[in-house]
Amino acid sequence: METVNYGELESGIDLRSRLLKTGLVRIRSHRPLKLKEFESLAQSLGKPLVTTKHVLNENRTVQELSNNGLFGEGEVEWHHDWSYGRGNYFGTVLCNVKNAHLSETWFCDMSKAPTELKNLYKSSVGRYYPPQHLHNTCFTEKQLRILEKQKVERPFIIKHHVTDEEILYCSIGSIMDTEEDLTPISDWVEENCIKYKWEPHDILLWDNLKMIHKRFAFEGTRFLWRTQFLI
Ligand SMILES: [Fe+2]
Repeated sequence: METVNYGELESGIDLRSRLLKTGLVRIRSHRPLKLKEFESLAQSLGKPLVTTKHVLNENRTVQELSNNGLFGEGEVEWHHDWSYGRGNYFGTVLCNVKNAHLSETWFCDMSKAPTELKNLYKSSVGRYYPPQHLHNTCFTEKQLRILEKQKVERPFIIKHHVTDEEILYCSIGSIMDTEEDLTPISDWVEENCIKYKWEPHDILLWDNLKMIHKRFAFEGTRFLWRTQFLI
């Protein structure tokens, strides 16, 4: 993980290439960001996805995440965002608006998985669909029907479409009907992950092809802003 200061961004730091290089970038800020500032930061990373639920801005690219709204309080299993959607959509940027620290977020870079582990799954394929706990909060019925029809499949071994890195891709929390033993993957991930503790006003961006991630159950109310983007 790489850390930069929000104030440094004006001097022309290329966040996109840092994201591609490390998969995970933390931006520290000593003050809360305005929604417009977050929106333009997200815009600079790639093409933002336009969404329907819990949107905060006119362009419909920034969503509010809270445990009263888009997500719950329970533990969220290791996953890659958008595993169940078509294509290479792969970036997420989050901003800590309030109390993000109530749950750590753990990340693991799956391009770093050892060759022996990758070889175990070299002909495996995963089929993906959104986990039940997201159905009512994140998707409309129409979106779920489309995702069901698409039945997205992804091989366990993929090549990053920009960096060409080989990645062990297995979104444990959203994989369907698999007969594969995923324990060797989850064991390696637990041993090799980064345990990220949120600080006030932090902004975090990651590459969803490389970075599997999870979060823990918590009590209280967390508020974050999120934009998902394509590169
Ligand atoms: Fe996620």
